[in-house]
Amino acid sequence: MTLARALDVALEASVLGSFTRVGYALRRRVEHWDPPGRLDGRVALVTGATSGLGLAYAHGLAALGARTHLLARDGARAEAARQGIVQATGNPAVEVWVGDLADPRAVAALARDLAGAIPRLDVLIHNAGSIAPTRVVRDGVETTVATQLLAPYLLTGALHHALAAAAPGRVVLVASGGMYAEPFDLERLARVAGPFDGVRTYARVKRAQVVLARAWARRCPAGEVSVVALHPGWADTPGLARSLPRFHRVLRPLLRTPDQGADTGLWFASRPDAPVLSGSFLFDRRPRATDRLARTRSADLRGDEEALLGWLRGLAAGVGGG
Ligand SMILES: NC(=O)c1ccc[n+]([C@@H]2O[C@H](COP(=O)([O-])OP(=O)(O)OC[C@H]3O[C@@H](n4cnc5c(N)ncnc54)[C@H](OP(=O)(O)O)[C@@H]3O)[C@@H](O)[C@H]2O)c1
Repeated sequence: MTLARALDVALEASVLGSFTRVGYALRRRVEHWDPPGRLDGRVALVTGATSGLGLAYAHGLAALGARTHLLARDGARAEAARQGIVQATGNPAVEVWVGDLADPRAVAALARDLAGAIPRLDVLIHNAGSIAPTRVVRDGVETTVATQLLAPYLLTGALHHALAAAAPGRVVLVASGGMYAEPFDLERLARVAGPFDGVRTYARVKRAQVVLARAWARRCPAGEVSVVALHPGWADTPGLARSLPRFHRVLRPLLRTPDQGADTGLWFASRPDAPVLSGSFLFDRRPRATDRLARTRSADLRGDEEALLGWLRGLAAGVGGG
């Protein structure tokens, strides 16, 4: 085992060391990370591009030369982000799309518009997400599920041809290490009544994103579309400060910057060997185990994938998408 690998394994064993900026800095130095490759002539789309990691992804993609589409729910914030990115990167090819990803019918319509306007898409980053304080249900779907599972399903489905035209198109689901706490549980994901726990719901949705990445990767030739889920590490973002204020306050000196959190996604976006990674759960530029606890291990990975895809297909059909 090389020194770099031994250090990585030791860090991985200590969650705090691994997920904070300590892990990022040590791995980057010891593994001699190169900056992500150029993306001139490529086309990218990032959801939730107005804040935190999404803004960092969008900024990074534009700085690497990609024509960058920003998808956001607030037109004014999206326009401010666009102007800031153009000014900072000198790349004028930054465009804004407005849509609330928690509104399944609106997403289905927006997905069709995007597919009509973007014939080739090299990189699609499903980043938008948050922890919901209370349960809100729209079109029969809870908001966390709608924003982070159904919206990626609708958008990726509509943009599949555009992604395949870039062979390999690359799809990133920004999941979270929080998913290590929860097993895949479709029955709970589908619940729209009864007691609600926002943090556990978020963790279940993130677990399902990892299942979705694997399901897509298994069904789609990786040379056509390569799909990964990833954990960005713990990054100092407005979303983290808002949803987990105590965690944010205590760990703030150790949190990653949004740019550091966005590194692995940008690295994947420009990797020539992206197809080799398809289906994996990435963190700090490596595929990682998807379980740390025996109780989250699935006895039937393929069954989970089939069940999730079938459920999302039904939800999508119900809102005029898919
Ligand atoms: N920060 C971390 O340590 C961390 C760790 C693990 C995973 N993540 C994941 O990283 C992603 C980004 O999180 P962040 O920390 O950067 O949070 P953030 O600062 O709150 O950014 C979230 C982005 O998503 C957008 N968004 C949320 N709901 C949306 C909706 N319904 N429709 C359209 N856009 C929506 C937000 O738009 P507005 O500006 O309009 O609110 C914002 O642009 C999330 O998926 C999160 O789960 C973050």
